[in-house]
Amino acid sequence: MKILVSDSLSEEGLAILKESGFDVVVKTGLSEDELVNEIKGVDALVIRSGTQVTARVIEAADKLKIVGRAGVGVDNVDVEAATKKGIIVSNTPDGNTLSAAEHTFAMLMSAARNIPQACASLRADKWERNKFMGVELNKKVFGVVGLGRIGAEVAKRGQAFGMTILGYDPFVSEERAKSMGIQLTTVEDICRRADFITVHTPLTKETTNLINKDMFNVMKKNVRIINCARGGIINEDDLADAVEAGKIAGAAIDVFVKEPPTGSRLLKSDKIIVTPHLGASTVEAQINVAIDIAHEIINVLNGEGAKSA
Ligand code: NAD
Ligand code: MLT
Repeated sequence: MKILVSDSLSEEGLAILKESGFDVVVKTGLSEDELVNEIKGVDALVIRSGTQVTARVIEAADKLKIVGRAGVGVDNVDVEAATKKGIIVSNTPDGNTLSAAEHTFAMLMSAARNIPQACASLRADKWERNKFMGVELNKKVFGVVGLGRIGAEVAKRGQAFGMTILGYDPFVSEERAKSMGIQLTTVEDICRRADFITVHTPLTKETTNLINKDMFNVMKKNVRIINCARGGIINEDDLADAVEAGKIAGAAIDVFVKEPPTGSRLLKSDKIIVTPHLGASTVEAQINVAIDIAHEIINVLNGEGAKSA
């Protein structure tokens, strides 16, 4: 059987696939047309976020049994088309949780202390100690929207810094939130009360534009907002408007509606710090997700069924 790896995968994962005795072909950077050709005769496709598995690709697949995503989000796969054709779409839900949580916290602290801006200023031979006055995290209110794997880890780190955590997640019970030391409330209440806000939901119909103009209008002026989940949960134009109008203090954004976000207003403001979708970009996370997806692919091709979805 043939496995096509169409995004870069760590060596540890590739080695497991190769040792399994299947025919492993690595071809990255394929266009949709190229993938439509390549997918013929392929039993398993391994991707990260770069490959778009569109309905056309699914349609062209004649032997495909599984699309394995080394990572969490499967928004680059037409899951409906795959499911209709009986193709499993599988992900690695745990492998990059800690890396994404740590990146979120790095972004939060960078926003609180203006670290990227101060670094750029000093490199430009300036010594602007007053310009980069920051804020402490201690005793601040931290709103966490989405209390799943990453949200829960981020909340824990906030507590370690002396922050009070407000949370919103329609699928988390009061009891569970209480056990995590989190006060459950609404998104609007978080927006009214928090000093820092972070979102950790999937991008769905319900979460698209969850943080929008109406929410920015009720926020305090000192708010710093972070998105290391998916572009579009925070409305990008409304965010740019709120920052430009001085309604909030700033933002830290790792993910964008369009990636790369060429020409985006979010790249133009000094008060918005940005990274190019680096949440899962650690050596450890990439090894974890590659190993997890390799085992999943082998299980499915050996007829043992999928563990994640
Ligand atoms: P998860 O499934 O463990 O948690 C998501 C949580 O969101 C769940 O608890 C769910 O109940 C909650 N949720 C669903 N709908 C909601 C809504 N309408 N309002 C509030 N909460 C809602 O997922 P995770 O592993 O914690 O990942 C969270 C997000 O981070 C995903 O979008 C994922 O794709 C993204 N992610 C990004 C990076 C990165 O590189 N920046 C890395 C890993 C994951
Ligand atoms: C994910 O969904 O796992 C992250 O966005 C990281 C990635 O795309 O590699």
